[in-house]
Amino acid sequence: MNEIEIQKQYIKKVRENNKNKKQKYIIVTMGCQLNENDSEKLCGMLDEMGYTKTEKQEEADLALFNTCCVRENAEDRLFGKLGELKKIKEQKGIIIAIGGCMMQEKHITKKIKESYPFVDIIFGTHTLHKFPEDLYKILEEKRKLEDVIDIDGKIYEGLPIKRDSKIKASVTIMNGCNNFCSYCIVPYVRGRERSRQPRAIIEEVKELAKQGYKEVTLLGQNVNSYLRVEKEKKIEFEEYEGVNSFATLLKAINKIEGIERIRFVSPHPKDFTDDVIEAIRDCNKVCKLVHLPLQAGNTKVLKEMNRKYTKEQYLALVEKMKNKIPNVTFSTDIIVGFPGETQEEFEDTLDVVNKVKFEQVYMFIYSRRIGTPGDKMENQIPEEEKHKRFDKLKALVESQIGETSKKYIGTMQKVLVEGESKNNKNLLTGRTDSNKVVIFEGDKKLIGKMVELKIISEHMWYLKGEI
Ligand code: SAH
Ligand code: SF4
Ligand code: F3S
Repeated sequence: MNEIEIQKQYIKKVRENNKNKKQKYIIVTMGCQLNENDSEKLCGMLDEMGYTKTEKQEEADLALFNTCCVRENAEDRLFGKLGELKKIKEQKGIIIAIGGCMMQEKHITKKIKESYPFVDIIFGTHTLHKFPEDLYKILEEKRKLEDVIDIDGKIYEGLPIKRDSKIKASVTIMNGCNNFCSYCIVPYVRGRERSRQPRAIIEEVKELAKQGYKEVTLLGQNVNSYLRVEKEKKIEFEEYEGVNSFATLLKAINKIEGIERIRFVSPHPKDFTDDVIEAIRDCNKVCKLVHLPLQAGNTKVLKEMNRKYTKEQYLALVEKMKNKIPNVTFSTDIIVGFPGETQEEFEDTLDVVNKVKFEQVYMFIYSRRIGTPGDKMENQIPEEEKHKRFDKLKALVESQIGETSKKYIGTMQKVLVEGESKNNKNLLTGRTDSNKVVIFEGDKKLIGKMVELKIISEHMWYLKGEI
């Protein structure tokens, strides 16, 4: 029996156990879209095990956390939540399970065992698929369980999945990361880079199209190096519908009928080969918003970060894409206050932001991560200084976003309608190709469809449009 079949047996056993019990679970997901996709798989397993989802803590028989550790604030959030749960655990005896990236850090699992001994299950990123087995053991044998391994987990296909949306779906195309940017914990908690088989991805997207999904987002820590490690290390993979690289994957998905939009995060600037640029240009369904993580604008800082490109190379890549891809726009990630970054070097970051005019900038204050080279650097920047730089960058970004949003006014935009607006149920909400939120009046029947809207006004976080 393969691993997934074994887990399906456990799913059955737990479902038997839960029969007529109306068990409910609450799930808290932290971190990136990869974690959200993992949570959709956990929800899929729980669904099949007879649990229903609730948003109310007090109703839950099982509380599940899928954690992130990319920055410090995630830890504060988890420990805060666990503090709250202690009482509920004592009163009601709910099951508490914690999984995800943070559980791959030894100092964290140690702290949980010492300070929060009431936690029932701890599982890591490489053992997510074994959640049914872990849960069964808790239910049946009532003993605490730690299921974290430190080797690169295999890629398991065929896990159940319960997606959050019926219109947009995430598809993880690779796990792990081999880049070891010196600030980043991800390679240590997600293991080495490994790609899914082309057939598995293509078949998943075809199935999504059949179910009526309109948009797919391809996920990975370094998507434009899809299958590169396999080729370099001569690890066997099966070419399927011409897919043997990221560019050919985009082309193959572009042909799948029913899918109308393709997005992907995150690519790495160092791997942006011409074939990928041309695929973005040639594939009509691939959105022309490219997320191109900058991290820092100064060449010396980039070198210290181990990013493998210079300021000039980054700007040249942006220029090249602007020349080759009509209407291309960019979004990015930036870290301020990396160890040793001087005021002058930080200004290079502002300079790049000024030059590129991003649609969206995700800004982060550098956070020391135990075990990374950045944490061992001696020239750490004082908190106060980091915050000052952050505020300066934020002010610049906000002024630019205002400007870029103004450009939309009066234009026609294709919008994929995602549902009712959260703040006003009489309005609909959707997104443009460039991922801008648009709010407009329209019939509910339009949900899940593409509509052409005229943009009539801009607001800080969204646009208003009319049909
Ligand atoms: N693989 C992706 C994203 C990784 S994590 C990429 O390379 O772009 C998402 C973002 O978190 C990163 O792009 C980076 O901007 C930020 N980040 C990662 N480690 C960080 C740290 N130690 N402190 C602050 N921000 C960090
Ligand atoms: Fe982290 Fe760099 Fe890998 Fe992104 S590419 S996950 S920032 S090590
Ligand atoms: Fe966080 Fe893990 Fe994603 S550390 S950013 S959830 S890969």
